[in-house]
Amino acid sequence: MSRKVVAGNWKMNLSLQSAQQLVADLQASLDGAHCKVIIAPPACYLGSLIDACGEHISLAAQNCHDKQEGAYTGEVSAMMLESMGVAYCLVGHSERREYFCEGNAWLAEKINALIAKGIHPIYCFGEQLDERKSNRHFEVVEQQIREGLFHLADADFSNVILAYEPVWAIGTGETATSEQAQEMHAFIRNLVQKQYGQAMADRTTILYGGSCKPSNAEELFAQPDVDGGLIGGAALQASDFIQIIRSNG
Ligand code: PGA
Repeated sequence: MSRKVVAGNWKMNLSLQSAQQLVADLQASLDGAHCKVIIAPPACYLGSLIDACGEHISLAAQNCHDKQEGAYTGEVSAMMLESMGVAYCLVGHSERREYFCEGNAWLAEKINALIAKGIHPIYCFGEQLDERKSNRHFEVVEQQIREGLFHLADADFSNVILAYEPVWAIGTGETATSEQAQEMHAFIRNLVQKQYGQAMADRTTILYGGSCKPSNAEELFAQPDVDGGLIGGAALQASDFIQIIRSNG
């Protein structure tokens, strides 16, 4: 099966009407002759978009709680997502790590909650600018992956998508060069190989995220270990997002 995926993270953007229009515009241009396409709208829109997504677009939530139900006002659980037919969920986006104090141990619990409900986690991680400048980026990424994912049994790990998002490239207009992305993605695939073996490493999807746009997507996706992108800003414009999808073979 192809590793290629393009996922759009809408973050906290768009009215319901604009969200419905964006899905309709994507739907009109996608015919199945492209990589796997996932969109992550705000949780409150998931129910009203699911039918419109049709067979060519899959839905992701942007976050979930680690408990399946209970007194956690304002939260959404994996059980709820599963009951709506949502197939994917972002976990550990850098904005969640920074603004909502989500650390690797808690993220591992969220991963477990999703796996228990058959939802594919899209696990996000990446270094801060000062960590790259002090040459600690490999160490930081390794720790995020080990603590968030490497407790999983093989069968469960095979349901996870990895998304490397250097924090200094998110929403800044500054993209990692294709060489920087490839270097880190090869490092990540090697970690997976050491933990789970070559066959798992060969089939694991590793996305790049951080100011990915139509003008740089093709070069990034041409790298042997970059299987696609997690797209923020450029996923809010149908024409840009479609161009990015078409750049991924
Ligand atoms: P960006 O966001 O493409 O706007 O940099 C990526 C992300 O946060 O997933």
